[in-house]
Amino acid sequence: MTKKLVLLISGRGSNLQSILRACQSGQVPDTAIVCVISNRADAPGLALAKQAGIPTQVMDHRNYPSRADFDAALRQGIDAHAPDLVVLAGFMRRLTVSFVTHYLGRLVNIHPSLLPAFPGLHTHARALEQGVCWHGATVHFVTPELDAGPSIVQAAVPVHPDDDPARLAERVLDAEHQIYPQALAAILSGHCRLEAGRVHWSTPFPAAAETVVHPQLTSVTMQTPSPGA
Ligand code: GRF
Repeated sequence: MTKKLVLLISGRGSNLQSILRACQSGQVPDTAIVCVISNRADAPGLALAKQAGIPTQVMDHRNYPSRADFDAALRQGIDAHAPDLVVLAGFMRRLTVSFVTHYLGRLVNIHPSLLPAFPGLHTHARALEQGVCWHGATVHFVTPELDAGPSIVQAAVPVHPDDDPARLAERVLDAEHQIYPQALAAILSGHCRLEAGRVHWSTPFPAAAETVVHPQLTSVTMQTPSPGA
């Protein structure tokens, strides 16, 4: 049976596009994006979804009296599609504990840093300020604490001496587009799951999640838990 994804976005939608391509190419097998929900009517990602024939919905958080009201409505909107997985793809809203708890183990996010380093915003500028040699991206299960859920896959990219936040962001984004589909495929195939607050991988370990090769990147390494961890 085809697995169903609901994607939540707020902006550009490049991760949406990479996930869509991965579903269409079979990299994420037997899976369809059944709805894209944006909290911003002007999110460019909405047009990408529409072009691909994916139903879209705008739920502007400013139309709700409280965060709890917005999250309750969002939950209704999502559950109407009965998704297997809810995918945050640049969704720029903090979520309430009750929302996150409802989807525990079925809600994932991508964050542009090697968590637990640099949770929150402006990760690329902060990484440069700190003078780190490696930066990257993390796909993680969402738990109530912001950007603190257990990591599923991470990609590290080198920081170059002449980087500015935009250049570094571009390199990280390239890595994001590779690891998010990999993580989704691993979860949807049952290779990876959240259990008792930790990520569990079944054996044999999915080979696709171990290595990323990308011609535009000097070097990319994957950090994943060891099999059976
Ligand atoms: C990405 O950098 C993602 O890591 C972060 O928000 C950005 C979304 O970009 N959560 P896009 O809308 O997918 O292009």
